[in-house]
Amino acid sequence: MSWQDSIDTTNMRSMVSGFPQLLRSSRPNDYILQEAVRLHERGIDGILLLGMGGSAIAGEICRAYLHDKTAKPILSVRDYTIPQFINDTWVTVAVSYSGNTEETLSAFKEAQSRGSSTIAFTTGATLKEYAGDSPVHILWPGFQPRAALPMVLSGLLPVLEILLDLDTTDLDTVSVDIEHVSSLWAGMQTTPADLAKMAKDAIPLFIGWRHLIPVAYRARCQMNENAKKMAFSSELPEANHNEIEGTASCVKTQFLPVFLRSNEEDKRIQTRIEATIETFIENGCSPVNLDLELPSRIHESLGYTHFLDSMSVELAEILGVDPMHVERITELKKKLEIKT
Ligand code: PA5
Repeated sequence: MSWQDSIDTTNMRSMVSGFPQLLRSSRPNDYILQEAVRLHERGIDGILLLGMGGSAIAGEICRAYLHDKTAKPILSVRDYTIPQFINDTWVTVAVSYSGNTEETLSAFKEAQSRGSSTIAFTTGATLKEYAGDSPVHILWPGFQPRAALPMVLSGLLPVLEILLDLDTTDLDTVSVDIEHVSSLWAGMQTTPADLAKMAKDAIPLFIGWRHLIPVAYRARCQMNENAKKMAFSSELPEANHNEIEGTASCVKTQFLPVFLRSNEEDKRIQTRIEATIETFIENGCSPVNLDLELPSRIHESLGYTHFLDSMSVELAEILGVDPMHVERITELKKKLEIKT
């Protein structure tokens, strides 16, 4: 069955449940693949990723996943302008689901003016127009941008792997595995619905290490956008040098720290995470040690994302809010259009 038969794009829960299917929904076409091969053969100095909000996450997850597999820099910019050193030896990959996000468009234009080759991922609109004859990966329309993450990643990761001359990750297998694992969530000690109940009256704080840093950030964004809930994310070991002091305020403000655990943790990191959990407990918090026990780095990145996306729709339901509409984001975009 194709995702079109089973996913209702008017319903966030349905799109979130369809995460594994969407991971195999949008492979790059031959033109994009050939262009990626050509650029790799010509030689590149680095990859610049552009995108905002829900459209930035696929790139962030890929960047963290690939961080030690390539000697080339992968840079992510979520802003209007790009660094001076971007030139014609860099490839710029821009993602904007709507194709109309002004920061992404501005940075994209700047990259083009520096001679950078470009590849765009979008449903159309201005980004497609700006891209001209350079490759454009057209995304299925009708989704909320943040729900399109697996679809974007399904096209983006293979392109990055070709540009960087890396082995291809078998996303079809990962997708089937994640589908299977999610069917077992109901029997787990902590389900997405349990986490959502715990987060109802607390401020969730997702804490990740290495490739799970963007996953923690994604979880925070999903609580914000889907559940209209203030939430935060942080990264270890950095949080041990600042945020840990903030645990003194746990007695006054109820936080829900959620530690995303990885099979890749070495002894040093494990000891650090456990000591941090202890500090939270000593300061009156009840942290959740979330260990999904997934078989590989990419399974962890995507499996945790799927799990926490599901938490966000459960939380939206508990809080009685509509996970589909992001009226404040839309209003702000309108206000800025009027001003410029
Ligand atoms: O998920 C969302 O709706 C937002 O975070 C958008 O992704 C963000 O505003 C950027 O828009 P777009 O994805 O259309 O570039």
